[in-house]
Amino acid sequence: MNPRPVPVAGVVRSAARTLSAAGVDSAHVEAQLVCAHVLGIDRSRLMFADDVDAAAVSEIEQLVAARARDRTPLQYLLGRAVTGRLELAVGPGVFIPRPETELLAEWILAALPAPGDGPGPVVVDLCAGSGTLALEIAHARPDAHVHAVELHDAALSWLRRNADERAAAGDTPIEVHHTDATDPRALPHLRDRAAAVVSNPPYIPFTDDLPADVLMHEPATALFGGGDGLAVVTPLVDVAAALLAPGGHLAVEHDDTTGPAVAAVVSAQGAFGTVEQHTDLAGRPRFVTATRFDAGHGDDDGEVVTTARKGITR
Ligand SMILES: C[S@@+](CC[C@H](N)C(=O)[O-])C[C@H]1O[C@@H](n2cnc3c(N)ncnc32)[C@H](O)[C@@H]1O
Repeated sequence: MNPRPVPVAGVVRSAARTLSAAGVDSAHVEAQLVCAHVLGIDRSRLMFADDVDAAAVSEIEQLVAARARDRTPLQYLLGRAVTGRLELAVGPGVFIPRPETELLAEWILAALPAPGDGPGPVVVDLCAGSGTLALEIAHARPDAHVHAVELHDAALSWLRRNADERAAAGDTPIEVHHTDATDPRALPHLRDRAAAVVSNPPYIPFTDDLPADVLMHEPATALFGGGDGLAVVTPLVDVAAALLAPGGHLAVEHDDTTGPAVAAVVSAQGAFGTVEQHTDLAGRPRFVTATRFDAGHGDDDGEVVTTARKGITR
């Protein structure tokens, strides 16, 4: 351990070298994030930081070594993940929120009826994980009654922790349900009441061809959706159809290889009007949306719109 404080730029360079040698992409950015975390400052303030004392250098080296050794995800090491407008607690046992999921939150927030005098909309997040979708929606729409459903215990405890943190920060509390999102008996009190159902379910078709950060560390129950990626999605779409009010919106994230299959599942369910496929900003098929038929529909037959579009223009 170096007994003297050392300039922060040198600590960042050394950390970046270690990470780069271990094959970590974006080694310099990750090195900055680790240093900023240990010093308790924003990454943008690093260049103004004082020299780093020996204890902080040691902590940085340990985190960098853990990342380099077995590819523990940076977010697990730092204990936090930034998602949309929020920062959530994450760690082993919970899926790390991904930027593409923010597109779902944006889409559903745009689709919800505007705040008015009546009761706020009911929104259900099926397969909630850390709570990224549910909590983002509750943050943006304080009038909404947001319900988050999670089955697995480890993820559930992160969800509860984040729900408590956000409520303490002033957001409208969400309701957490320890329930199977594929069970047709789920949430009977919300039947026909939801203005929106959102879901980022486990959807990757079985494979071992994933980065080590993901395959070795994130829970398989969060990643894989059976051989075809649809094992959770298919029954979950039935549950969503039962929860949604007529005219309510569904948005489901999917693997970039299963867009047409997920759209077909939603269309075949029979409760939904025009089913739309959406791409992310890189042009990859990313999520499907649909609207539950109003009572007495007749002219809209659940047609699937297959035109892939950039981003989420509606
Ligand atoms: C891909 S992760 C997404 C988590 C979160 N929605 C997000 O975007 O970060 C899928 C989540 O679904 C949960 N899950 C898997 N099967 C489930 C089921 N049958 N019912 C409820 N949750 C389930 C997993 O534990 C995991 O937290």
